[in-house]
Amino acid sequence: MKKSSSLILGIVLMLAVFLTACGTSEETGSETEANNEGETKTLRIVTDAAYAPMEYQDKGEVVGFDIDFIKAVAKEAGYAVEVEHVGWDPIFVEIESKRADLAVSSITITDERKQSYDFSNPYFQSTNKILVQEGSDIQSAEDLKGKKVAVQNGTTGQMAMDALLGKNHSDIKKFEDNNLAIMEMESGGADAVVADNMIVEEYAKNNPDKNLKVVEDATFDSEYYGILFPKDSELVEEINTAINAVLDNGTYSEIYQKWFGIEPNIEVLKEQQ
Ligand code: ARG
Repeated sequence: MKKSSSLILGIVLMLAVFLTACGTSEETGSETEANNEGETKTLRIVTDAAYAPMEYQDKGEVVGFDIDFIKAVAKEAGYAVEVEHVGWDPIFVEIESKRADLAVSSITITDERKQSYDFSNPYFQSTNKILVQEGSDIQSAEDLKGKKVAVQNGTTGQMAMDALLGKNHSDIKKFEDNNLAIMEMESGGADAVVADNMIVEEYAKNNPDKNLKVVEDATFDSEYYGILFPKDSELVEEINTAINAVLDNGTYSEIYQKWFGIEPNIEVLKEQQ
């Protein structure tokens, strides 16, 4: 009895080793196939889909300007895509660990981020703006002093408030997603939200019943979004070439018109390259 059960165990183990070996060789096989026979490689793309109209979830699907844009760019470069909402902070973990090939999420190109990651060429111009309730006395960034300001943690909105009010100032309320920052203001926990112009403008426009207004301030930097890659990613060059193709062949304008109803300023992006 003992003998036969250890025999069975032996056979099972051998079978397991054999099957594992098969599995590995099969995987390697299909990888070579993908490279040699032009099978489309799928890029794993991560995002924080809580930033409408740039990236958000609609009936379980991730949609938005950035998503249409990256799909067009990937198609141009000959890749299939798989876009996953992971949240803002996790984007940087996924990219740093190379679990994702790239991230698109209205990510501003900054010198600090450039030390740890690679960026594509700029594909979108942006700046921070202030979202307030209609009757608010806040008319400039300076007026935010002494007020409670809600921001998304780890964004350029937070950096702008760190610079204005002081790093870790208790008046800066940080949230892991921008929608939570907006909710905080709506429920009276903050006097303003500082975030990217497209987001606050669209939000105020789409929610007329909430009586919100957007305040701009020339002291906020002009920013440019880039696609984020792990440092030294081989994809950067290919994707940059594809971005330029999409900028030049009218696809970018088409996507921009679809989401914002106006013509983009492609020149200003090209000048940044
Ligand atoms: N542009 C800003 C930054 O890079 C905010 C981006 C936030 N994006 C998002 N999907 N929540 O810091």
